[in-house]
Amino acid sequence: MMKKQQLTIALSKGRILEETLPLLEAANIIPAENIFKSRKLIFDTNHDNIKLVVIRATDVPTYVEYGGADMGIAGKDVLMEHGGKGLYEPLDLEIAKCKLMVAGLTDADPVDGRMRIATKFVNIARQYFAQQGCQVDIVKLYGAMELAPIMGLADRIVDIVDTGNTLRANGLEPMDFIANISSRLVVGQPALKMKHRQIQPIIDMMSAAVVQRR
Ligand code: ADP
Ligand code: PRP
Ligand code: MG
Repeated sequence: MMKKQQLTIALSKGRILEETLPLLEAANIIPAENIFKSRKLIFDTNHDNIKLVVIRATDVPTYVEYGGADMGIAGKDVLMEHGGKGLYEPLDLEIAKCKLMVAGLTDADPVDGRMRIATKFVNIARQYFAQQGCQVDIVKLYGAMELAPIMGLADRIVDIVDTGNTLRANGLEPMDFIANISSRLVVGQPALKMKHRQIQPIIDMMSAAVVQRR
């Protein structure tokens, strides 16, 4: 019998981790200890050849691209911003659904000349406004984008909107739709080639769980 190959799956810590674990469990992958109660970054599972690493959402595509992990789970926003180089995206997990939007202060006047855009999604924003034929300057932030227009740091933001509560609570409104977002399973090119027989059943079982949850 062929020896089972090692498989490493990169999970985004933060708001999608809780919804990720039941999908992994549907593929019979169960962490050996409580991820939420541990300071560890790497976890054993019920399979001696499968490990989980729990990292910042924005680092998941990088780990998978460079083979530091064989597959991973990340938001489509994070994947779009990364560019998707070397990543295969076989499954929409249909969790953490939200929208990428342009937003600004409620009833803000149109800006003539270059708009200043605050966002953590600098690549997505640059591409979106270029497509619109709009000249913009982009200011990179790492969070709390909604604050930027209030403080006069930017005319508009590009950010995630779900309920719209954060926008409303800060006197902002959604203005333009950029993309629908949900979390995706991604597989790196090397793993896709070398570990396909091991990975495909995992994808199939997770896919069945996604359909069942609908
Ligand atoms: P970060 O710390 O990078 O913001 P989060 O854990 O907050 O990471 O978000 C992880 C992913 O969940 C995001 O990449 C996005 O796809 C999605 N997401 C972010 N905010 C929301 C939200 N308010 N509602 C639903 N999904 C969200
Ligand atoms: C996310 C996002 C928005 C908010 C949108 O922030 O960046 O601020 O959720 O959700 P809503 O439309 O339902 O209000 P998060 O809570 O992840 O904070 P962060 O800045 O730490 O990412
Ligand atoms: Mg967040």
